[in-house]
Amino acid sequence: MSEDQVTVRRAVEADEAALLGIELTAWDASSGFPSLTPADRTSFFTERSGPEAHLVAEEDGVVLGYIRLQDKYTFPEGSGVLSVNGLAVAEKARGRGIGSILLTAVTDEAGRRGAHKISLHVHATNAAARRLYERHGYVVEGTHPREFLIEGAYVDSLDLAKYI
Ligand SMILES: CC(C)(COP(=O)(O)OP(=O)(O)OC[C@H]1O[C@@H](n2cnc3c(N)ncnc32)[C@H](O)[C@@H]1OP(=O)(O)O)[C@@H](O)C(=O)NCCC(=O)NCCS
Repeated sequence: MSEDQVTVRRAVEADEAALLGIELTAWDASSGFPSLTPADRTSFFTERSGPEAHLVAEEDGVVLGYIRLQDKYTFPEGSGVLSVNGLAVAEKARGRGIGSILLTAVTDEAGRRGAHKISLHVHATNAAARRLYERHGYVVEGTHPREFLIEGAYVDSLDLAKYI
């Protein structure tokens, strides 16, 4: 890993175009839902998921990836649980540890926010992401067999969590 120049910061509105570019090219049938990234999708941020919910990894002023971290629950009893609701690195920048840097950044943020757990979902077919999460201490909490039908094949969905 040679990521001395990669920095992580909170996203801002001006990242919209770069993040949309990553979003439209990062996902495939083994990692995401093709229906959610149609070629004519025109925005990355949404009302429910604005810049404040994202950390971005940047190198020489170029945004190379993002991670989306949100409260899992809206009520106080669940306030210690955060969800990673998206993680993607630009295809050309993969395998350089940027996904790892973003996961470390959310662990740090979760600690600052007093969270005791980070949850996420991953397709069982997503080998690269599963390895990465495992390396960061995420464990499988549950399996939803045949949860999605993606391009003609059933895909299991896994619930993963890291306890802080
Ligand atoms: C999963 C993802 C975020 C990982 O990002 P990344 O910056 O490549 O992550 P890292 O470099 O920190 O590590 C990823 C692991 O996959 C391997 N890897 C991923 N893409 C690779 C590539 N193009 N070439 C070589 N190795 C690759 C890495 O070697 C590493 O595995 P290892 O530690 O066992 O060697 C990225 O592949 C991605 O954006 N995928 C599509 C979206 C996705 O699947 N998101 C997660 C959904 S739950």
